[in-house]
Amino acid sequence: MSFIDPATAVQHLASYKSKDGLSVHELMDSTIRGGLTYNDFLVLPGKIDFPSSVVSLESKLTKNITLKSPFVSAPMDTVTEADMAIHMALLGGIGIIHHNCSAEDQAEMVKQVKKFENGFINDPVVLSPETTIGEVKALKQRLGFAGFPVTENGKFPGKLVGILTSRDIQFHENLESKVSEIMTTDLVTAKKGITLSQANDILRKSKKGKLPIVDENGQLVSLLSRTDLSKNLNFPNASKSADTKQLLCGAAIGTLDTDKERLALLVNAGLDVVVIDSSQGNSVFQINMIKFIKETYPSIDVIAGNVVTREQAAELIVAGADALKIGMGSGSICITQEVMACGRPQGTAVYSVSQFAHQFGIPTIADGGVQNIGHITKAIALGASCVMMGSMLAGTTESPGDYFYRDGKRLKSYRGMGSIDAMKKTDVKGNASTSRYFSESDAVFVAQGVSGSVVDKGSVKKYIPYLYNGLQHSCQDIGVKSAKALADESKSGNIRFEFRTASAQLEGGVHNLHSYEKRLYN
Ligand code: IMP
Repeated sequence: MSFIDPATAVQHLASYKSKDGLSVHELMDSTIRGGLTYNDFLVLPGKIDFPSSVVSLESKLTKNITLKSPFVSAPMDTVTEADMAIHMALLGGIGIIHHNCSAEDQAEMVKQVKKFENGFINDPVVLSPETTIGEVKALKQRLGFAGFPVTENGKFPGKLVGILTSRDIQFHENLESKVSEIMTTDLVTAKKGITLSQANDILRKSKKGKLPIVDENGQLVSLLSRTDLSKNLNFPNASKSADTKQLLCGAAIGTLDTDKERLALLVNAGLDVVVIDSSQGNSVFQINMIKFIKETYPSIDVIAGNVVTREQAAELIVAGADALKIGMGSGSICITQEVMACGRPQGTAVYSVSQFAHQFGIPTIADGGVQNIGHITKAIALGASCVMMGSMLAGTTESPGDYFYRDGKRLKSYRGMGSIDAMKKTDVKGNASTSRYFSESDAVFVAQGVSGSVVDKGSVKKYIPYLYNGLQHSCQDIGVKSAKALADESKSGNIRFEFRTASAQLEGGVHNLHSYEKRLYN
């Protein structure tokens, strides 16, 4: 038997009709395999001739907003409030603040994000001189840190009268003592308006752990913490407005008339982008809302949705959407497909809507169902430019809610906005998460989501960099130097895919082990 010269193996590839594997269009032809989702396929590897660190993850969130990383936190009351939104923006993504609260509270959260100054804690936990040491120890246990400023009225803002540190309470046995008896009153403070590097200098010289910042009347306005300093100084990817240099912030609203009043407060607070939060986006209510926003606030970008078909997408594009959010029934807490019989497998939905929307220059966001870095890669390869995540970010330090222990595990609550629990938490105007499901006037709520809990994931300050690095490595394996190239090369047929049978999926997971520990990052 004669063989072809091995030295010509690469040239020999030209004799094949196409590259190995399938194009994304062949893969996603739903007339052949039905609707697919992320686990149903793999991306075939390309050639690595660059380090993963050069991979750019810059991605369009909307027509007018580009982010350094394609991560968006979901507008859910167990995922995104001010702290999450601040950290998502610092780390190159964006947070969308939920609307299952009063318009005033939501606007206040937007304000906190916009006013955030890197390194300064603008809403410090404060003590009253009357607080007991027992209460402080319980607070320390719950929050995981100690070192609290003490204000005259026990509120923030308030006049600073002392500071109580870990060391003050460490060996103090009498739990009935008052804070005023042992707090430090000989304070090193800095004046409002000081820069981070000046404050840093004072902290270094004073050798203190905390530096309270006060105004001319001695009112505490913020706090600087030594432990946060080194972590906070460097956020090169931060998402900021070009003109004001403030962090970018998004917020969700519904499609009721009262949402117009809500939006006015949010815009006043400095909102950059609004998400119209609906499980079925193709409604006259949403179309009218998009038109209203584009006419009233032309500088605010509108993310419309959710959609899973070309037909739904077309209506919202005509109305003026600046981006589309894709997903119905794919969320981890979601029972929409089961109860409503409506929805679409997420892979097919992302592919179908994204390929359609791109023709009009409208970016898309894959919302729900992301369980790991591989799913993010696949969403981008199918055409989404960003991913919205709920369960991936729930259970982090920055998500709302306190940790609790169950079965020996440290957990936080995570619930669907269409769960009975979330729908019952309705604000005074009645336009809470019910409006997402057109249920505000229902006598009996029909749940489209569940309430549950997720395991503690630590801080997003570590978790988002893990996702970022992981996505860079994934692009490297595929042989592309950017998230944009991943989408483009996939569309052109250059990046190849393979359908995965059920047994191929089993093979791709850990198997044949008696036991193992799955640690994803250190
Ligand atoms: P996850 O990232 O898979 O946890 O999904 C989060 C997404 O699920 C959100 O961004 C919403 O689009 C969607 N979602 C939130 N709450 C519910 C619900 O109660 N039912 C159905 N979908 C929901």
